[in-house]
Amino acid sequence: MTILVTGATGNVGRHIVDQLIRSGARVRALTRNPASANLPQSVEVVYGDLTDPDTMVEALHGATAMHLITFNSVDSAPLHTGPEIVELATKAGIRKVTLLWSGTKGPVEEAVEASSLEWTHLQPDVEFMSNTLAWADSIRSEGVVRQLNGQALNAMIHEADIGSVAATVLLGEGHAFKSYSLTGPEVLSAYDKIRIISSELGRDLRFIELSEEEERARMRQSGVQEEMIDYVVGWYANPPKAASRVLPLVEEITGLPARTFAQWIAENKTKFL
Ligand SMILES: NC(=O)c1ccc[n+]([C@@H]2O[C@H](COP(=O)([O-])OP(=O)(O)OC[C@H]3O[C@@H](n4cnc5c(N)ncnc54)[C@H](OP(=O)(O)O)[C@@H]3O)[C@@H](O)[C@H]2O)c1
Repeated sequence: MTILVTGATGNVGRHIVDQLIRSGARVRALTRNPASANLPQSVEVVYGDLTDPDTMVEALHGATAMHLITFNSVDSAPLHTGPEIVELATKAGIRKVTLLWSGTKGPVEEAVEASSLEWTHLQPDVEFMSNTLAWADSIRSEGVVRQLNGQALNAMIHEADIGSVAATVLLGEGHAFKSYSLTGPEVLSAYDKIRIISSELGRDLRFIELSEEEERARMRQSGVQEEMIDYVVGWYANPPKAASRVLPLVEEITGLPARTFAQWIAENKTKFL
């Protein structure tokens, strides 16, 4: 049984690959840049671009399950090739698909739901812990974190937990046609996160709360696109309720407690030093 993982070089995809390998699965990883994929040796790395479905034929050949991303990282827009990819996947003999939900239903989700594939949506309604890497530069250089609305609450999730859920779904049964809302194990504000980072690094950190205009200017300076700036600012100004509740699904599906932010920081400490 070969499982095709798209987005395999991404924050979430690398964990999906790792968890599948640990469970003994045969993994094929899709990337547009095989030479720089840097994936474990036992993984079969193949070229493919989801915006050009013809390049997917070889990658799909012989696979029986697939993790499918729904966005194109060139502009973070939904992939419009959903119907073609689903048709090729069905023809190739894929039976089961996990989808990393990006908040709205796009062409990939619509095509998968209209097909004969057994789909499962992995739906993190919360931030990925890896978003904290955006703080790394100012923590390293000044011991400071700058952000809008330090009180905004989030049950952020460790990407490895999305990986564990995906691997459990792809290798197990009983998950077809379900949407799994995934969260981390605790609700944290920016102040809570800074306390946890300070304790792990053994260094006092300062929080500077930005106004909306200051936050927009900071993101523009980092090259973030206007559409994304609007989304992030809107989110922090009025955090959605769904982001500040802890749900039990990670533990129910994987049998293990969801990983904490303290664990994520311990694993990624060197990036903040
Ligand atoms: N960050 C958050 O807080 C958060 C929260 C909830 C949901 N999400 C959702 O999570 C997703 C981001 O996941 P991530 O952080 O794991 O992604 P990521 O680290 O940005 O990685 C993107 C992956 O997608 C692949 N990719 C992009 N366009 C491709 C294309 N045209 N053809 C083939 N592969 C392509 C890239 O592969 P190559 O470059 O190797 O080809 C890479 O492996 C988004 O949909 C976002 O909405 C994020």
